[in-house]
Amino acid sequence: MHKGFTLWFTGLSGAGKSTLSEMIEARFQACGAEVARLDGDVVRTRLSKGLGFSKEDRDENIRRIGFVCELLSNHGVIAIAAAISPYRALRDEVRTGIHNFVEVYVTCPIDVLAERDVKGLYKKALAGEIPHFTGISDPYEPPMAPEVVVDSSKETPEESLDKIWATLENLGLISFDRSALAYERI
Ligand code: ADX
Repeated sequence: MHKGFTLWFTGLSGAGKSTLSEMIEARFQACGAEVARLDGDVVRTRLSKGLGFSKEDRDENIRRIGFVCELLSNHGVIAIAAAISPYRALRDEVRTGIHNFVEVYVTCPIDVLAERDVKGLYKKALAGEIPHFTGISDPYEPPMAPEVVVDSSKETPEESLDKIWATLENLGLISFDRSALAYERI
């Protein structure tokens, strides 16, 4: 059983938002929940195609993702958003429209991110080849009171996932019958 809610992942590029959001989506699906995921990288090829990385365009991107999450989660679906969403005011604006909004701050020191550099973007940004790159030459405003904080430099993805899951249970947004799950596996 679950309520409609929005699980909003925020944090720097490469911190682990997409990985965690995919993992938790799979866990919800395995439980038979209604779930939809909006990932910044994907949204920017469809819903936000053509938008860039100016403050205005990022704000527009977040408003669009927030609007879809609002529609979904206020109608009983679990909506998952994974976007840098660097501006606090915009995240808070999205929060005001959504009954159950759960903000997950995925943090990781910038030197670890630059070392990981999964997409090769930090190297380019540090060389000055990508203007307005979040965390290097553009701001990131961390949440003041996120429902969950996970640190991908200190925790395994599974540990982070368990923390998020426990928060959702504590907030009364999900309650799954573990005995039924155990029974099905037999
Ligand atoms: S947001 O700021 O509008 O929330 P979003 O999550 O959709 O950003 O997109 C971030 C992704 O775009 C990054 O993971 C990275 O792959 C890519 N990207 C390209 N240019 C930039 C930039 N200047 N700053 C941050 N990310 C960028």
